[in-house]
Amino acid sequence: MTAEETFLSARPEYMLRYFKPVIFLACLGPVALLTWDGFRGNLGANPIEAITHSTGDCTMVFLLMTLSVTPLRRLTRQYWLIGVRRMFGLFAFFYGTLHLMTWLWLDKFFAVHEMLADIAKRRFITAGMTGFALMIPLAVTSTKWAIRKMGGKRWQALHRLIYATAAAGVIHYIWLVKADLRKPLQYAALLGVLMAYRIFAWVASRNGRVAVAANAGTSQG
Ligand code: HEM
Repeated sequence: MTAEETFLSARPEYMLRYFKPVIFLACLGPVALLTWDGFRGNLGANPIEAITHSTGDCTMVFLLMTLSVTPLRRLTRQYWLIGVRRMFGLFAFFYGTLHLMTWLWLDKFFAVHEMLADIAKRRFITAGMTGFALMIPLAVTSTKWAIRKMGGKRWQALHRLIYATAAAGVIHYIWLVKADLRKPLQYAALLGVLMAYRIFAWVASRNGRVAVAANAGTSQG
């Protein structure tokens, strides 16, 4: 067996045991870098803006990474990848919380009248808030205990909210940029591809079920 075959046929538990801690540390990279740059005074002329942009980007990227796990896992048959989906989702929530806290704390100093004025003036804040609010039930029900309590079907239905979160994130970004729409449109395109994959997979599995039912009917009749 070649090294590549050994790698591909490795057992899921083995892959997870070795890769999960490495992936976890890599996910902490952006916040570690921000902290390091902050201490060294390397965040540029407007540190709050730098933190907002970096944490906003990370939130979006982790949401898209979470949504990429299922297609990637099916296409590459690396089924162990499912073990990192929850981690990516929780990192999206973590960076989303840092992003929101930057606005609440560093930008607005928790001054309610200033926040309300900002919400009224900049509609993209409302889209961002919607995206963040939709992430809360996902984070709260991310445990194995919650899956058991809710039952797989209901849990899965709730967790489809992640598409709405990512869509709100994209709208938030499209609304906030003044001229160059390239980056938010790249995120929108990626989200579109991931959603199209899901719809395609759903239609294919439904057609499969219909065909199986039809075959069963024929063989009984
Ligand atoms: C799902 C939730 C959210 C996502 C995915 C998200 C994502 C982003 C992204 C990608 C950016 C642009 C980063 C860049 O320029 O490179 C951004 C900027 C920003 N976000 Fe969010 N965000 C979210 C929620 C929020 C919330 C809840 C707030 C505050 C209430 C907020 C406030 C801001 C602000 C003030 C900016 C900078 C705007 C500017 O440049 O003028 N975001 N966000």
